[in-house]
Amino acid sequence: MKKPALLESFSDRSRVFDFVNRPAAGAKPDVRHGTVLYVEDITVSFDGFKALDALTLYVNAGELRCIIGPNGAGKTTMMDVITGKTRPDAGRAWFGQNIDLLTLDEPRVAQAGIGRKFQKPTVFENHTVHENLELAMAGARGVWPVLFARLSGEQAAHIDETLELIGLAERRHTLAGALSHGQKQWLEIGMLLMQEPELLLVDEPVAGMTPQEVERTAELLVRLAGKRSVVVVEHDMEFVRSIARTVTVLHEGRVLAEGSMDKIQNDPKVVEVYLGE
Ligand SMILES: Nc1ncnc2c1ncn2[C@@H]1O[C@H](COP(=O)(O)OP(=O)(O)OP(=O)(O)O)[C@@H](O)[C@H]1O
Ligand SMILES: [Mg+2]
Repeated sequence: MKKPALLESFSDRSRVFDFVNRPAAGAKPDVRHGTVLYVEDITVSFDGFKALDALTLYVNAGELRCIIGPNGAGKTTMMDVITGKTRPDAGRAWFGQNIDLLTLDEPRVAQAGIGRKFQKPTVFENHTVHENLELAMAGARGVWPVLFARLSGEQAAHIDETLELIGLAERRHTLAGALSHGQKQWLEIGMLLMQEPELLLVDEPVAGMTPQEVERTAELLVRLAGKRSVVVVEHDMEFVRSIARTVTVLHEGRVLAEGSMDKIQNDPKVVEVYLGE
């Protein structure tokens, strides 16, 4: 018997669900102290080379934080530690005051409410935009209900809301494979949002985008913050300037400087290692 098309792509592309999968049960991060992410004294060594060197930083609940820094500064490695992909040699990483991230593997970190957007979009090219969002939601409910049951009013409303947010409402019946690079990036952000993460990590979202797409991505990320927290790694300084409240500059696995964009831009240390390049 031929498998239904949605189910087939589910098994083919099940790795996508590694990071969108999120059962309804499970502890939520306790952010009553106002901090959603605690990274303290994290050290990661690769063959003796310290990619992260006692890195310490905190992200406030509802914040939109930009992380910048030269190539090799440790930005992606930091996200790997937070999401359970890389285990540090030392240090602590907590999601709220109650969830010790270093005890969780990648799927569990996603279940706890941390969504990660990788640079390359991984959408289901042969399914429509709407179906992609349905499938992402299925991570929480199992794929069966998507295939054989109708969406509840609440679920349909959640999809509609997300389509509006990511600016793809008019494209809901378009095959994801036919979207532009920028639109695919937004769809993938939408897929992460279907899991209602408390914290979203986004690595270099605007690479390869047209100037108009960059602008719309900035608007989208600004809109996402508040209800949830967003950490964005990006090299495009114009983009960072357009969205940034607080900027953290990483260099050689440590925090070199942190503060408003104005403060960062006028910091001689930052100009020397990064902005002055
Ligand atoms: N799995 C690995 N094995 C060995 N070295 C690694 C590994 N992952 C990262 N590194 C090294 O760790 C350092 C930090 O890399 P990382 O990818 O975190 O930097 P980054 O700040 O994200 O840089 P970029 O801006 O280029 O993306 C680099 O020198 C990199 O070569
Ligand atoms: Mg990187």
